Amino acid sequence: MADSRVYRASTTAPVNIAVIKYWGKRDAKLNLPTNSSLSVTLAQSDLKAHTTASCSQAFSDDDSLILNGEPSPLTTPRSQACLARLRALRKILEDRDNSLPKLSQWPLRIVSINNFPTAAGLASSAAGFAALIRAIANLYELPQSPTELSAIARQGSGSACRSLFGGYVAWDAGTAADGNDSVAVEVAPASHWPEMRALVVVASAEKKGVPSTAGMQQTAATSTLFPLRVEKLVPARMIAMKEAIAKKDFATFADLTMQDSNSFHAVCLDTVPPIFYMNETSRAAVRLVEAINERVGRNVAAYTFDAGPNAVVYYLAENEGQVAGVFKSLLGDKDGWAGDRGTQVQEAPIEGLDERVVAVLKSGVSRVILTGVGEGPIATSDHLVSESGLPT
Ligand code: DP6
Repeated sequence: MADSRVYRASTTAPVNIAVIKYWGKRDAKLNLPTNSSLSVTLAQSDLKAHTTASCSQAFSDDDSLILNGEPSPLTTPRSQACLARLRALRKILEDRDNSLPKLSQWPLRIVSINNFPTAAGLASSAAGFAALIRAIANLYELPQSPTELSAIARQGSGSACRSLFGGYVAWDAGTAADGNDSVAVEVAPASHWPEMRALVVVASAEKKGVPSTAGMQQTAATSTLFPLRVEKLVPARMIAMKEAIAKKDFATFADLTMQDSNSFHAVCLDTVPPIFYMNETSRAAVRLVEAINERVGRNVAAYTFDAGPNAVVYYLAENEGQVAGVFKSLLGDKDGWAGDRGTQVQEAPIEGLDERVVAVLKSGVSRVILTGVGEGPIATSDHLVSESGLPT
């Protein structure tokens, strides 16, 4: 008898921002990186992707995805690789237990939304793919661990594998040719160092110039500095960063974070043709963080930049006034300070700042997002697909 039921599972998944950057692939097809990386997962109260995966024997259409209300292709090789692997894992369960519904054979209807401020220009692929993989794994009741699932998410987008965990997360580059050991692992849960805060300083909402997938391939192929980064600098920093997190040593965490961001942008500049992600506003944010650290006499703030001009500034809750307070005194009229977190930040003007730095920041920053370290994917009964299989 035909089973007309609609099976559904929903989850939310977080954004992560790397403090040791992934940049370079040793295998583009399997999406294997040239180096390990390490990130902090950001709180989902501020930024998250929310996804429902559903399937039914009664669905007659092909697999489909509706992203923020718009149909979006699931036919890319990356999405196809993820779906094929998840179906294969489900099929193993169905073959073992004949009473299970044959979900692996039925079309998937996926609906996803994210709560990123539309004008934030933040990369959403990490949270999006992590939510997609987690939702389908829940729908299929797969027994695989987050680390095992991370090898699938990695094929969607490299950085997505780290969004399957909360807290402090490493992606081990691995050495196996088939990529089985290129997986994400928890370095420490959010509860180990819950005081970590992040201020996202939005310097541009535009789409980035060179997409990261293409940019990192060009860097790996042409940068003369790149081998030093991959072979020496990153492996040493991975060890030191894990130690700094274990000891909750913010000064070292900050040193390593800033060094690694600068090293990543240096190999971008050393690419032929050169790639520029940081702009004048980004550099002004670097100067402001330096001024803050100098004034306090130690590292209380750490900047990092991904493949775009937005700054993410990490700091500890106890230093909120000295870090976010200074940003607020300069940029208090920008969007993002109004929420609970923002209104609690005490303004802390600092004297002697370079006037140009101040002017560039005031004109170049469009908004800020105040957030902090947070949890990994969370299953929810808030479904974006109705019981009859339609987007809600
Ligand atoms: C600069 O994960 O977007 O944010 O694997 O090609 O999808 P693909 O690349 P992606 O690259 C992210 C690069 C980065 C650094 C990082 O997140 O580690």
